[in-house]
Amino acid sequence: MQKILVTGATGQLGSEFKVLSKNYPQYEWFFANRMQVSLHKINLLEEQLKNIQPNIILNCGAYTAVDKAETEHELADIVNHQSVGVLAKYAKINSIKLVHISTDYVFDGTSSIALNEDALTNPINVYGMTKRAGEVAALSINANVIIIRTSWVYSRFGNNFVKTMRRLLIERDSIEVVNDQIGSPTYAADLAQVVIDIVQTEKWTPGIFNYSNEGSISWYEFALAIQEITEDKCEVKGIPSTSYPTPAARPAYSLLDKNKIKEIYNVAVPYYKESLKKCLMLQF
Ligand SMILES: NC(=O)c1ccc[n+]([C@@H]2O[C@H](COP(=O)([O-])OP(=O)(O)OC[C@H]3O[C@@H](n4cnc5c(N)ncnc54)[C@H](OP(=O)(O)O)[C@@H]3O)[C@@H](O)[C@H]2O)c1
Repeated sequence: MQKILVTGATGQLGSEFKVLSKNYPQYEWFFANRMQVSLHKINLLEEQLKNIQPNIILNCGAYTAVDKAETEHELADIVNHQSVGVLAKYAKINSIKLVHISTDYVFDGTSSIALNEDALTNPINVYGMTKRAGEVAALSINANVIIIRTSWVYSRFGNNFVKTMRRLLIERDSIEVVNDQIGSPTYAADLAQVVIDIVQTEKWTPGIFNYSNEGSISWYEFALAIQEITEDKCEVKGIPSTSYPTPAARPAYSLLDKNKIKEIYNVAVPYYKESLKKCLMLQF
């Protein structure tokens, strides 16, 4: 029986794998928290992997606090970059599969067309820099790795925009949401399913792939879409990013082009509103 190791299993994506794993009893699943697979302890990591003996690694662990990363560059780099190198090396030496998750924040936001996998990267915040360094490390050490870049991830688990908006729409009479950052949300359950579909196909084509839900929207439009479903009466106002300063800069445009993953892996890419409805229908 093949053993699948999910790192960062307490996070949004890791938790969605836990839900989906019930449909895949043909695998032995190992859901690792940060004690069991410690991405910040490079010296321990290889030993932890040796003890678990996975056949497939799904690396969902990451330093994801985008603003905090601006002042914790070193830790973010260890978790998002250096540890990925260790995972890639372990996968290469042991001839096992590694799927690593990356981000649209590897881009600077100056594009005006959907970004494909070959588009020039130029991260504008520390988180993006460390995630890009992780991509480069993985592929330079092990050309057989699959990297999936995703964006604006939400789920019923963990902390995310959808959960925050849901709360604010109930609590407040009016809210302001930035309307000049364009991208596409990703329902973590959809992404988890796609990763499982890829792992299951006979055809393992390595390299970088983009995946998010279909649609091109601002955070403001995303908040409106949430409100359309929840029917809360709160007033939602669009504001420019300059009115909502954050420690880390965000790309103004980071829409991912999904053609490559559709063509090579023939995966479904649901429209964002359909997936949002599914997520909001779940009790959380
Ligand atoms: N969230 C987004 O909007 C977004 C957008 C684009 C790409 N991504 C990428 O998608 C992937 C999954 O993200 P997510 O949204 O599921 O993130 P998440 O909810 O923040 O979960 C991250 C997971 O990583 C774990 N982790 C953090 N530091 C660790 C360490 N030093 N050692 C071991 N585990 C550690 C966390 O454990 P604890 O629970 O113990 O902290 C948590 O389980 C990540 O690679 C992320 O970079 C996310």
